[in-house]
Amino acid sequence: MKLTPQERMLRACRGESVDRPPVWLMRQAGRYLPEYRAVRAKYSFLEMCQTPDAAVEVSLQPIDLLGSEACILFSDIFVPILGLGIDVDFRPGPHVDPPLRSQADVDALAKPDIREAVPYVFDILRQLRREVDSRGVPLLGFAGAPFTLAAYLVEGSGSSHFAALKTLLHREPKVLRSLLDRLVELTVDYLNAQIEAGAQVVQLFDTWAGLLDAAEYREWVLPTHRAIASRVNRAAAPLILYVNNGSHLLDSMLDSGADVMSLDWRVDLADAARRVGSRASIQGNLDPCGLHAPGAEIAKRVRDMAEAGRAARGHILNLGHGCLPGTPVEGVRAFIEAARALSAD
Ligand code: CP3
Repeated sequence: MKLTPQERMLRACRGESVDRPPVWLMRQAGRYLPEYRAVRAKYSFLEMCQTPDAAVEVSLQPIDLLGSEACILFSDIFVPILGLGIDVDFRPGPHVDPPLRSQADVDALAKPDIREAVPYVFDILRQLRREVDSRGVPLLGFAGAPFTLAAYLVEGSGSSHFAALKTLLHREPKVLRSLLDRLVELTVDYLNAQIEAGAQVVQLFDTWAGLLDAAEYREWVLPTHRAIASRVNRAAAPLILYVNNGSHLLDSMLDSGADVMSLDWRVDLADAARRVGSRASIQGNLDPCGLHAPGAEIAKRVRDMAEAGRAARGHILNLGHGCLPGTPVEGVRAFIEAARALSAD
């Protein structure tokens, strides 16, 4: 079976047979690449997200320079938040000042037509789709999940415990619920607009949902994942669900209905693959710091992951979280080359 990377990715997401697992890396466009830094020197991060030519150029770098087999839109999970009338400052993580804490703050959020609020996102996707079609590579869109967006909006910035968010959950559950509901609407619209603009797979990043225990996850987050999975046009674009630090949530995440469970490196991949079985495909899960290992070691880890992933209906080779700024380019190259050298048996 000879598949294009586009076919291989879509088939792996849906659990159809493939010759070998597809490969890409979360945060594959970024500061570890000198060619990214050269473009970034001319713009602020937000300007880059809002300038289609620059965003298209850096989105394609991992494909053209390193052989990655999927192209992810260059943007940030906070870009659609600008459409709610909130100023977001990247330092480099997102900062929101003042943070949202009350029902009045939630009620004051704008209800934009997302296609008009952040039109450059869809221009980038349309341009990218033309570029990736000529390379046979799939185009991925993405969004931040409501809980992770809420975490930053309530806290005002990144944090290790997100105590302000958890305080709101316990003290003012109605406020948090209405914020999550509002963000579900935004995310469904935003992902469907990305699919219309050419995204062939979409990934939902719920980086911080792992802060919750399984019961809280089921009460607070699972309903948001289910709503998104049922309202996003998954017939046109399969949905990947990523939760960082979520090994204790995997069984509950399966109830979301997402097509692919994206796992971090703390999860034993063989065990996860067996648990997931035919219910979903999996993605992951090398520790991003593992890319500092010698190339031969990285190649062995890739072969081990591919073997472990076989018990699930489909497997996409990836990291367990995004590429870090200090990642050696040779490590990324070794990861991709080892994946591309795998064969069907
Ligand atoms: O995967 C990709 O290559 C697509 C681009 C992408 C970015 N951010 C670019 C970016 C994606 C998918 C994201 C998602 C994102 N952004 C998440 C979810 C996934 C995750 O990593 O947990 C979160 C929580 C954010 C919020 C965010 N944006 C943080 C915490 C930071 C700072 C972290 C850092 O790397 O310094 C950003 C800024 C950001 N987003 C950068 C990039 C390339 C660095 C900006 C720069 O060049 O200065």
